[in-house]
Amino acid sequence: MPSSLDAHLRSALDADEGQRRIAEAIRHLCTASVKVRNQIIEGGSNLGEQRGDTNTDGDVQKELDVLADRAFLQAAKDSGFMFFGSEEQEGPVTLDENGDFAIAIDPLDGSSNISTNVSIGTIFSILPVSDANRADPKTVFMQKGANQLAAGFFVYGPQLQLVLTVGDGTHVFLFSPKFGGFVEQTASVTIADKAKEFSVNMSNYRHWDTHIRNYVDDLLAGEEGPRERDFGMRYVGSLVADAYRILQRGGVFLYPSDGRKGYQNGRLRLMYEANPVAMLVEQAGGAATDGTTRILDIEPEGLHVRTPLVFGSKREVERIGRYIADPD
Ligand code: AHG
Ligand code: MN
Ligand code: MN
Ligand code: MN
Repeated sequence: MPSSLDAHLRSALDADEGQRRIAEAIRHLCTASVKVRNQIIEGGSNLGEQRGDTNTDGDVQKELDVLADRAFLQAAKDSGFMFFGSEEQEGPVTLDENGDFAIAIDPLDGSSNISTNVSIGTIFSILPVSDANRADPKTVFMQKGANQLAAGFFVYGPQLQLVLTVGDGTHVFLFSPKFGGFVEQTASVTIADKAKEFSVNMSNYRHWDTHIRNYVDDLLAGEEGPRERDFGMRYVGSLVADAYRILQRGGVFLYPSDGRKGYQNGRLRLMYEANPVAMLVEQAGGAATDGTTRILDIEPEGLHVRTPLVFGSKREVERIGRYIADPD
């Protein structure tokens, strides 16, 4: 019988009471993920329907966005977290005054794919709470990604998977209904150093800055071009699905800044999309930047700030940085 998530948590997070509380929180998050999975599998056709409201971010809220937000808010309460910062909430929600941790979460990632039966997910980031944060709650979601104590995402796809790091490498767990829990599927994922695929929404090409266009042009030129080899392209439009593929077989993902409305800093949110993905990718030997700056070093200005995001095979991410730094 493969080792269970529980066994992994007991060995990776048992040094002190704080670590044991994080392990317990991850168990509660898993419980919430199975609830969301069951709603997706059994739920009616209205899960992808718009609810008419928009979230702080300006995204239209889908039924499943709200259902997932509720399920993970309950998990955060059960975990004794002090703060809950969600894509679907205006600002930090204070839960337990005596809590020592905060969670930044994207309860349902890939909402545009809910009604197309494409893989979607939940992305989370667990952060410490300092006395300064207690005094001024909005600062708790202005911590650099390097402060994260744990990060992960669930993929609701043909399989329900948890991709997790607590700073000891990146590990993949599979939900097994037979076993009744999560079992280890891939211990210590490592991202292939060489990228054979790129992942970007090409329809935004005309909005990118010149350096990014030059980089993608060189990929498209294939073996006749300066890269002297062909590249494949995959783009799911759910960050968790693109990230999981890159963890499994390498590649590079880009969501650059573009001049469109409100996307000067790209579309993806630093606290609950870029930071957790960056920690998972770095723990798997890859790299994650905003094009030039390491994602985990960026000082966030608030819970919902956006950032351009480039991540994946380390050498490819570094190459993109050179296109931007010395364009000719
Ligand atoms: P969310 O559904 O949580 O708002 O996130 C959607 C994000 C992310 O999953 C994906 O990488 C990106 O939106 C796709 O954006 P485009 O449709 O603009 O390519
Ligand atoms: Mn959204
Ligand atoms: Mn998302
Ligand atoms: Mn979302």
